Amino acid sequence: MAKSLFVCQSCGAEHRKWMGQCPDCNAWNSISEQVIESAIAASSGKGKLLDAAPITDISGSDCPRSSTRIEELDRVLGGGLVPGSAVLIGGDPGIGKSTLLLQAAAKLAATGPETAGQRGPVLYITGEESVRQVHLRGERIQALHNNLLLISACELESMLTTIDKVKPSAVIVDSIQTTVSNRLTSAPGTVSQVRDCSAKLIQHAKQRGHMLILVGHVTKDGALAGPRVLEHMVDAVIYFEGDKGHAHRILRAVKNRFGPAGEIGVFEMTDAGLIGIRDASRLFLAERAGNTPGSVVLACMEGTRPLLVEVQALIAPTVYATPKRSAVGVDGGRIAMLTAVLERRIGLPLSKYDVYINIAGGARVAEPAADLAVLLAMVSAFQEKAVAEDLAVFGEVGLTGEIRPVGQPEARAREAASLGFSQLLLPAENHARVQKANIIANMRSETEAPLVLASARELSEAAQKALI
Ligand code: TYD
Ligand code: MG
Repeated sequence: MAKSLFVCQSCGAEHRKWMGQCPDCNAWNSISEQVIESAIAASSGKGKLLDAAPITDISGSDCPRSSTRIEELDRVLGGGLVPGSAVLIGGDPGIGKSTLLLQAAAKLAATGPETAGQRGPVLYITGEESVRQVHLRGERIQALHNNLLLISACELESMLTTIDKVKPSAVIVDSIQTTVSNRLTSAPGTVSQVRDCSAKLIQHAKQRGHMLILVGHVTKDGALAGPRVLEHMVDAVIYFEGDKGHAHRILRAVKNRFGPAGEIGVFEMTDAGLIGIRDASRLFLAERAGNTPGSVVLACMEGTRPLLVEVQALIAPTVYATPKRSAVGVDGGRIAMLTAVLERRIGLPLSKYDVYINIAGGARVAEPAADLAVLLAMVSAFQEKAVAEDLAVFGEVGLTGEIRPVGQPEARAREAASLGFSQLLLPAENHARVQKANIIANMRSETEAPLVLASARELSEAAQKALI
């Protein structure tokens, strides 16, 4: 007997009756009816006996990986693709997912995956474009290879049959939202379609041992369209982000069962496709004009990678009853907090001023280690005095105005030194570690002693010193 279930298309919650608003995620008009086949338990209820082995007896040879020959992509994947694993790549439409994957597919096809046993072709399944369109793009970005097979398909069952016949070493499905199973009645892109199709493709990949890459679109509010359950099903979730107004793109691992999460890869979109950028700090600082009030260089960490970005602040007398606080690239809540710290602990009368903070070049910084740089940028903007051009900053700021130590100070200092920064403003507790690592000594000869901070009072003094 067929039964109906009401599933929220936004969060995947299942309900017994239709509702205008999903009680789980509060989305309006997101619940739709789905007919489910009644599952009659065929088994007797008794499972088979499984072999429980001591963990020490299980062979520890780490999983073999296939390099994609795109260094920045490999870094995010934790060294390359693992056979039998599934990777989900999410991102806004037009950000470059198809471009990157076509480039990776051609490279994989040309070199043949390194892993033993699997030497099959690479299969690129496109559900959004025609094979001609993909060919044209491949021609333009020089991603053509006769070991790269192309099909244009939306039907899951045809995909699985083709995979069985072709025996590929890697399969790319672009995108999971256009994939439909003919066993389900719901429309493409709905929760049940996305979940079922992904589950089948992943299961198939695990059984046959090929690598699977799924492309997923992101909704307006930044979540992967379809259910969050998809993120649990795959081995790695990678987001491709960037600003349409800028040429660079950032690939970010938010989950990785085979490597560190939080790792980023930086690319530049050019006429010839995406080009990996090893020296990302230089890219983000390229347009920095020296000697400008309100501009401070922050040494932040993205995964294991240090990155220098420019924090910009603008402070202007407000015309509103409530002053405006606006932040691009950093958390707005943090800016409100730092504004309050400046007001209370250093005595800047910011309640009469609008505060705008921006991370230049469309970068995004999520770690609290950005606090000190933001604070200094605000002080610099308020006093209309530029900070020294060769100064890099990192450190967390607490509500009492104390400056707290942050992780990996050596890596941050090393990156700053390698880009020619000779002054460092850092938390007192990080100072010893940086000094021990002998990084400052490597800085230019006219180095002043690095400014070390422990409290807000020292901050205001340091700010005076750092300002020209
Ligand atoms: P695409 O890979 O189709 O994005 P997605 O699959 O994420 O939707 O990228 C499309 C954009 O990239 C499009 O706006 C054009 C631009 N682009 C270039 O600038 N150079 C190139 O070589 C290619 C192939 C695309
Ligand atoms: Mg695409």
